Amino acid sequence: MEIKLEMLTKVFDNKEKGLTTAVDKLDITIPSGKLIGLLGPSGCGKSTTLYMIAGLLKPTEGKIYFGDENVTDIPPEDRGIGLVFQNYALYPHMTVAQNIMFPLENLKVPKAEAIERAQEMADLVGIGELMDRKPKQLSGGQQQRVAIARALVKKPRVLLLDEPLSNLDARLRLATREEIKRIQRETGITTVFVTHDQEEAMSISDEIVLMELGIKQQVGEPQDVYDKPDNLFVAKFLGTPPINLFDGHIKDGKIMIGDANIGQLKTDDKEVIVGIRPEGFSLTERSSLKVEVDLVETIGRDTTLIIENPTRKGETFRAIVDAEKRIKPGDKIKLNVKPTKLFVFEKDTGELVN
Ligand SMILES: Nc1ncnc2c1ncn2[C@@H]1O[C@H](COP(=O)(O)OP(=O)(O)O)[C@@H](O)[C@H]1O
Ligand SMILES: [Mg+2]
Repeated sequence: MEIKLEMLTKVFDNKEKGLTTAVDKLDITIPSGKLIGLLGPSGCGKSTTLYMIAGLLKPTEGKIYFGDENVTDIPPEDRGIGLVFQNYALYPHMTVAQNIMFPLENLKVPKAEAIERAQEMADLVGIGELMDRKPKQLSGGQQQRVAIARALVKKPRVLLLDEPLSNLDARLRLATREEIKRIQRETGITTVFVTHDQEEAMSISDEIVLMELGIKQQVGEPQDVYDKPDNLFVAKFLGTPPINLFDGHIKDGKIMIGDANIGQLKTDDKEVIVGIRPEGFSLTERSSLKVEVDLVETIGRDTTLIIENPTRKGETFRAIVDAEKRIKPGDKIKLNVKPTKLFVFEKDTGELVN
C-alpha cells in the first residue's frame, strides 16, 4: 500500500511556548512494500508525522493517502494500521497469546480463528513457544516481538514503528532490527520505522527520509544520501565517526584549506565549509595538506589518526587509514583527499555547492 503525504503540517498550540510547527509542509511518497526509515534528531517531528499517518493526531493542514484513498479524516481504527511503540505497551496481566489476540476481539473474529492467527504471527516473529508466558517473564526483545505480532495480527495495510528498539540493550537492538527487516520482507507490508539513530536507519531502510525542525531535508536510498548529501545538516547527521569540517575557501576553481589545495570546484571565489569523510584521506608524498599526528587508534584493520584541525582552534579531525602503515603520534604526514568523499558547502546556508 503506497502512502502519500501531501503538504502535511502540524502546528501545536502550547499555552506557555506559543505555536510550534512540529511538521512543516511534508511531501513524501512511501512506495508500496518498502521499509522507510523516518530519521532525525529528537524533536524534529518524527513521532508527530507517524501519529498523523496513524490517525492519532489530526493534521493542521495537508492530506494523507493510502493508495488512492484519502484517509485524512478517517479514524485510526478504520485505517488498517498496525502501530508499535518504544515501550511495547503490552497488557501485563495477559499472556502472550491473549496480548496478540486482543485486537481481534473487537473485530469479533471467532475464537478458534483468533488462536490460529495469533499462533501464526507469534511463529512469524519467532516467539511461537512463549504463548503462555506473561510479559514480565520475557526479555525486552521478546516483549517487542509480541508487540509486533499484535500489530500484525489484524493484517494491517501499513506497519508504523516509533523507535521500537530504543529500550533494548545494544546486542538485542541489533538482533531485533534484523528480525524486523526479515518480518517486513516476508510480509511485504509497507512499513514506516521512526528512529533518531542514523546507523539503525541506514542499516534497516530501503529509503530514508531525513528531517530537521519539521522539514524534510533529503530522501533516498541510505547509501545515496550518505554519498551525495544535499546540505551540511545531512552530511553531519549521517556517518560514524562523523564527517570532518574545515573552514576553507575557493580560489580560481581550487578548493583550499589554508594554503593547501585539496581539490577542484568550478565556482566563484568565496569562503566555504569543506566536509571530508574520515575514510576520504590517503597518505601520499604528493599532497599539499601537511599535518602532524596527535593520536593513533588501531582497531582491527583500520587505523584512525586524530589530528589537530588546522582551521578550527581546539578541534581535531579524524582520518581512517590502512593499519599496515605504522604511524606514530608526532609523525608529520601528507594527506590526499579522495574527490568522492569531499563536499563543499555554502558558509551561510549550508547548501551543497555544486
Ligand atoms: N502534544 C504536543 N503538544 C505540544 N507540542 C508537541 C506535542 N507533541 C510534540 N510537540 C512538539 O513538536 C515537536 C516535534 O515533536 P515530536 O514529533 O515528538 O519529535 P520527535 O519524535 O522527532 O522527537 C517538538 O518540538 C515537540 O516539543
Ligand atoms: Mg518521537
